[in-house]
Amino acid sequence: MAKSKEVFVCQNCGASSPKWQGQCPTCGEWNTLVAEAAPSGARAAGPKAPRAVRADATSLAAEAVLDQPRLSTGSAELDRVLGGGLVFGSVTLIGGDPGIGKSTLMLQAAAALNALGPVLYATGEESLKQVALRARRLGLADATARLLAETGVEEIVGVATALGARVLIVDSIQTMHSERIESAPGAVAQLRECTAELVRFAKASGTAVLLVGHVTKEGQIAGPRVLEHMVDTVLYFESDTGSRFRVLRSVKNRFGAANEIGVFAMAEQGLREVTNPSAIFLSRHAEPVSGSVITVMREGTRSLLIEVQVLADASLGNNPRRVAVGIDGNRLTMLLAVAHRHAGLLLGGQDVFANVVGGVRLAETAGDLAIVLAARSSLQDIPLPNSLVAFGELGLAGEIRPVPFGEERLREAAKHGFKLALVPEANVPKRPPEGMTVRGVTRLSQALDAF
Ligand code: TYD
Ligand code: MG
Repeated sequence: MAKSKEVFVCQNCGASSPKWQGQCPTCGEWNTLVAEAAPSGARAAGPKAPRAVRADATSLAAEAVLDQPRLSTGSAELDRVLGGGLVFGSVTLIGGDPGIGKSTLMLQAAAALNALGPVLYATGEESLKQVALRARRLGLADATARLLAETGVEEIVGVATALGARVLIVDSIQTMHSERIESAPGAVAQLRECTAELVRFAKASGTAVLLVGHVTKEGQIAGPRVLEHMVDTVLYFESDTGSRFRVLRSVKNRFGAANEIGVFAMAEQGLREVTNPSAIFLSRHAEPVSGSVITVMREGTRSLLIEVQVLADASLGNNPRRVAVGIDGNRLTMLLAVAHRHAGLLLGGQDVFANVVGGVRLAETAGDLAIVLAARSSLQDIPLPNSLVAFGELGLAGEIRPVPFGEERLREAAKHGFKLALVPEANVPKRPPEGMTVRGVTRLSQALDAF
């Protein structure tokens, strides 16, 4: 047998090169090239025989009538993030920090899915005892999902095939190894090969595959970006440090909307769904307080009420500070400049701290109006009414621009008892939600004069 060749694979981006280099020629990272054995076996064999020509392409219309059947995971929040349930033959990657609850979520899903067909839960991280102990804590001790403590991906696929599994859960992909590759588990070549093997299995058998993935310090799934390209759906499990709330977010989904979120709370009996997440992100002051404004954010197909807080305080130094938590710092600086230039807000000698309550990230421009209102409220120490919500994008010329999903946002606010909304003129609906007064504005000065 010929000696298997070596290639040097970048552990950051997955690019391979025939010789070692200090810097990866593809992504520019230093000292990331590691020697790995080139893939052996059939795929590395010599020139292929010419293939027979096929002519059986199908039409779009013929495929479109076949609706994707979906498997419910027993959790409405998880189903929503997946785009309405698990799709047969799909591969889903779930990433998140250690201890956030990935294995817990998978075990709970396994127990519920098992009612619909055989489920195989393969673990390379924990012993069967540990999984069983957790199952007992979760009240799932008598669930009949099959467990397998195994790290060989070929064996796992073999067992799943023999079992006729409808769903295969692999916890985690970083602990798996394929016998086709010589490098250690967790190396890029192993990750890629194991994932490819599981993707092939999912597509060939129609089994829905769920992969648990570790994340790096930067919060990305460990291994090259390639993994995210290979799978159909990528979900991230996130949490604020110390909080018992967990947010599951889809960053890629071939079968549903990206950026969809599901909210869970970690309790004694595992993960519980939070069906009304707006309620947990609001602090609901009994008395109106200055510097706080409620806005409505969109996450996927859902509207969320969140509270924006700003504190403006006389600065002691020569360089006033601008600190933003949950908001882009550059955006905050820009908004304060617009507020100064177009509405005469004097924030020059002030330190400004902006924060979104509950550890949420406000990445949308729709929060602009609320941030400026909160800044003015803090600066002048004048509280805004408790029953107010505000949203709208702010332009550099001091204009208030419309945002998508205006009506849905207003409906969500009305549902939570808000009586007054300050929104861009173009977002004012013909019929405002019951019990709510909607005021449209076109300029920032007009919005600030409203109070
Ligand atoms: P786990 O699912 O093991 O996390 P991951 O697989 O993402 O590393 O979750 C472990 C954490 O969750 C651990 O800190 C204990 C906590 N937990 C609970 O609070 N309640 C429970 O019912 C369970 C099973 C775990
Ligand atoms: Mg785990």
